Amino acid sequence: MALHHPAPERAHSHRGNPIHTVDEPALAERLSVPTHRLYEQPVAAEVAYQLVHDELMLDGNSRLNLATFVTTFMEPQAGRLMAECADKNMIDKDEYPQTAELERRCVSVLADLWNAPEPKGVIGCSTTGSSEACMLGGLALKRRWANARRSAGEPADRPNLVMGANVQICWEKFCNYWEVEARTVPVEGDRFHLSADEAVARCDENTIGVVAVLGSTLDGSYEPVAEIAAALDALQARTGLDLSIHVDGASGAMIAPFLDRDLVWDFRLPRVASINTSGHKYGLVYPGVGWVLWRDHEALPQELVFNVNYLGGNMPTFALNFSRPGAEVVAQYYMFLRLGSEGFRVVQQSSRDVAKGLADKIAELGPFQMITRGDELPVFAFTTKVEVEAFNVYDVSRRLRERGWQVPAYSFPANREDLSVLRVVVRNGFSEDLAGAFFDDLSRLVPELASQPRPAEGGEGASAFHH
Ligand SMILES: Cc1ncc(COP(=O)(O)O)c(C=O)c1O
Repeated sequence: MALHHPAPERAHSHRGNPIHTVDEPALAERLSVPTHRLYEQPVAAEVAYQLVHDELMLDGNSRLNLATFVTTFMEPQAGRLMAECADKNMIDKDEYPQTAELERRCVSVLADLWNAPEPKGVIGCSTTGSSEACMLGGLALKRRWANARRSAGEPADRPNLVMGANVQICWEKFCNYWEVEARTVPVEGDRFHLSADEAVARCDENTIGVVAVLGSTLDGSYEPVAEIAAALDALQARTGLDLSIHVDGASGAMIAPFLDRDLVWDFRLPRVASINTSGHKYGLVYPGVGWVLWRDHEALPQELVFNVNYLGGNMPTFALNFSRPGAEVVAQYYMFLRLGSEGFRVVQQSSRDVAKGLADKIAELGPFQMITRGDELPVFAFTTKVEVEAFNVYDVSRRLRERGWQVPAYSFPANREDLSVLRVVVRNGFSEDLAGAFFDDLSRLVPELASQPRPAEGGEGASAFHH
């Protein structure tokens, strides 16, 4: 959540429009919308609706938002189910046992998709998104490490977590909030994510685990999970250190099972202790639902689990929140039922095809250098070629915004802060048609930008984009 301070009161009036106050036009004279304090009296539901609705016209069009990984298109039937479940609290397992049952089914489906060797042993839950799921995955790693250290009579006060500098901000949060040293591997040259050798070089007896990302938020590339696992096997053979991997599959854990079946990145690797994904990304559900699964009970220390009432008995839960909407979980189950594995394959393949096709066309335009081409996540990043001096990626981002397209520009982390890119996330609903319209707009503005004397945007700090 953005943290807000009360803004200074604005001078202009926030009175209602007489048309909006429907059968009580005079109300418009008295009504002031609550920008700082509540208006004294209630207003009619229709009036309140219209005023809030009108304010929201200022938001961008979510379908033209190529910055977000989060679902912006679902069928009306899914919307209907979600509205029907808007009053259901996910934690009230006893009151809403069937919603709890749908959550259980979703966990089973994911265990199967992620090739759990013993699906019955898998333990998992829904969350508000991948951030919460990553926190839970990280907490389990930390507690397991601390338990093992204490039983060996060793100190457990200096935990560290090994990961690439390209990780999403939720891992920085995890390390900050739970006081774990973040051992981040900088990106270097053309290596834009974690490598096995670099990961292993940072592991020691205080390492709680290694995070491998499928795929990287920065450029959509998959990290080499199997290579990292093999390097950790070799480390164990050399030193006895037995380290687990948490796969942050926020996006890729819902792409790879359908499009990259031969890629071994999941519970087939014995070192993979836990995996998270965002149901609200390529799980194709509106925000906010995420998932985290542990391969077995050993991977999730029992003391982290709390029990809630369920049909007169107890149901184990592990979560940061208590109350949470049930609607997204229901919508996830709807998507699993609606698409089946073949439907998911077709939808994800279509996103990848659109991403690859668009990346190829942008590469041919001339001034752009591709960093990735949409062939892993349906996401690609590109920058301007070194010889392009008239404009930069921040100019392109700003000019695209004039046509409604939201395409973030940002710089890479250490040691490639010199590299700034644009990133396009292709999602369900971004059709070839829309991709064509986007490409036409981009091609139209390139000659204009090329005729600038110099870049108009400053680069560093010019983008308010947060990963
Ligand atoms: C790799 C990765 N991990 C975690 C997250 C956080 O996910 P959420 O927005 O579902 O909390 C993201 C979001 O983009 C991500 O790309």
